[in-house]
Amino acid sequence: MSKLTPFFNPLAWYKAWRFHKKNAAFDKSTYDLELHLYSKILKNNMLHWGYFEDTQIDPGDISLNQFQAAQQRYAGNLLEQIADKKSPVLDVGCGMGGLAEMLMDNAIPVEVLTPNKNQISFISGKHPQLKAHRCKFEDFEACKLYGTIINSESLQYIKLDAAFHKADSIVKPKARWIITDYFRTEDTTDNKGSHLLSDFKEKINEYGWNVVLEKDITSNVLPTIAYVNLYIERFLLPLRHYAYEKLRYKQAWLFYLSERIRNSIDAKIDKERRSVDPALFVTQKRYMFFVLEKK
Ligand SMILES: C[S@@+](CC[C@H](N)C(=O)[O-])C[C@H]1O[C@@H](n2cnc3c(N)ncnc32)[C@H](O)[C@@H]1O
Repeated sequence: MSKLTPFFNPLAWYKAWRFHKKNAAFDKSTYDLELHLYSKILKNNMLHWGYFEDTQIDPGDISLNQFQAAQQRYAGNLLEQIADKKSPVLDVGCGMGGLAEMLMDNAIPVEVLTPNKNQISFISGKHPQLKAHRCKFEDFEACKLYGTIINSESLQYIKLDAAFHKADSIVKPKARWIITDYFRTEDTTDNKGSHLLSDFKEKINEYGWNVVLEKDITSNVLPTIAYVNLYIERFLLPLRHYAYEKLRYKQAWLFYLSERIRNSIDAKIDKERRSVDPALFVTQKRYMFFVLEKK
């Protein structure tokens, strides 16, 4: 009965309401939970899916170190495509700055850009000398021209016309634009969270860029998708079952009352599961590596 006491106490209800209001006003940009989570899991400050040479690797054989090595390889592939190593590179949607660190280690001048306040303070805290722009790419007011722009898994967040328009206005002649991201192959899929590949290719022509490299790296990225999928199947889902059942045995009344909350957690997990279902991914998407050069 003592556990139920707060439910019958008007003061507890008032305090709960105050607590709710305070936390509902929580500002994601000042405490980025995802950034905190990834920074604890990954130690190389990279937020992309990596590149596996061994496309047949069993996801159960992938270690955290191997995954991080795949991320380093992916970043190394981008670095290799920088033709002008003297002019500044703009890393658009820089995440936690792992790629910029690699460029700095190779003495390539780099600036980073992200709208995320927390990413900026994380990067600036580590590298005070690194020029970090806090804004969306589409709103960026450049005061110089760049020899290379990089969008590593960040183009999907930017409308294509806005991205091409901005890129055109901030690059030197013959500049390169290096893009890695996943694209939808058809307009019929339920997951709209990426650009249509055909739309992107149309824009390349429309805005006058040459394609220096176009590589489908889906098979090199799939081990990561399979790896995340394995963790969901083997850890997250059994843990969810364990937690729900424990609640049912120990606090059946709360289990009964929390049905809606559990349903919304289940819906969220199902959505995440679909996005890392390797079989579904290959039928709906392509992970592409593009290097464009301004005509
Ligand atoms: C999946 S993370 C990729 C991070 C990093 N490029 C990497 O490969 O590790 C996506 C990044 O895009 C950024 N982003 C989202 N919308 C953006 C926009 N409109 N303009 C520029 N960056 C954006 C996010 O803040 C984040 O830094």
